[in-house]
Amino acid sequence: MKKVNEKISEETNLDDFEVISRNLIQGKDLNPFGNVFGGQMLSWLDESSYIYLVTKTGYSNFVTVNMNDVNFHAPAKLGDVITFYGKIIRTGKSSATVRNRAFVHEVGSDLKKEIINCTITFVALKNGKSFPFFTKKDRKK
Ligand SMILES: CC(C)(COP(=O)(O)OP(=O)(O)OC[C@H]1O[C@@H](n2cnc3c(N)ncnc32)[C@H](O)[C@@H]1OP(=O)(O)O)[C@@H](O)C(=O)NCCC(=O)NCCS
Repeated sequence: MKKVNEKISEETNLDDFEVISRNLIQGKDLNPFGNVFGGQMLSWLDESSYIYLVTKTGYSNFVTVNMNDVNFHAPAKLGDVITFYGKIIRTGKSSATVRNRAFVHEVGSDLKKEIINCTITFVALKNGKSFPFFTKKDRKK
């Protein structure tokens, strides 16, 4: 029962998340059976989370080191507009983790359907090596 309640609360609560990008599903994104390629969704998530982190921190030399807890909940279809939401859930010394959720919003209503969620960790680099960006006191955030 607790698990069900947790799931409902996760489904309805986007308060802490920010919209980080939107994409239109086009023919080039589909497999031969009409569903979006999972790898395409992951590529959009990776890119939008990177841009979000760069915007939040003012630093740009980040690489993706881990994609975790990836859940494909529902297929996206041709013509769907996907909205990507993100929030930074953890920072370490050089690493930061972004939680992502992507929804299809029904045009003209508040209804939305969750397509995918996952967690992505990025590492700040300097001269090709990890760099403790998040321990700097004067950083933007
Ligand atoms: C990112 C990279 C430089 C880290 O190298 P490393 O030797 O593990 O570096 P460190 O041991 O100094 O760890 C750096 C940070 O990464 C974190 N980290 C390393 N591997 C991780 C993993 N698989 N998942 C989550 N965090 C990880 C460490 O916990 C550490 O975090 P902290 O500084 O906040 O405490 C190296 O793994 C790399 O170059 N990977 C390829 C990245 C890339 O090219 N991505 C693009 C897609 S191919």
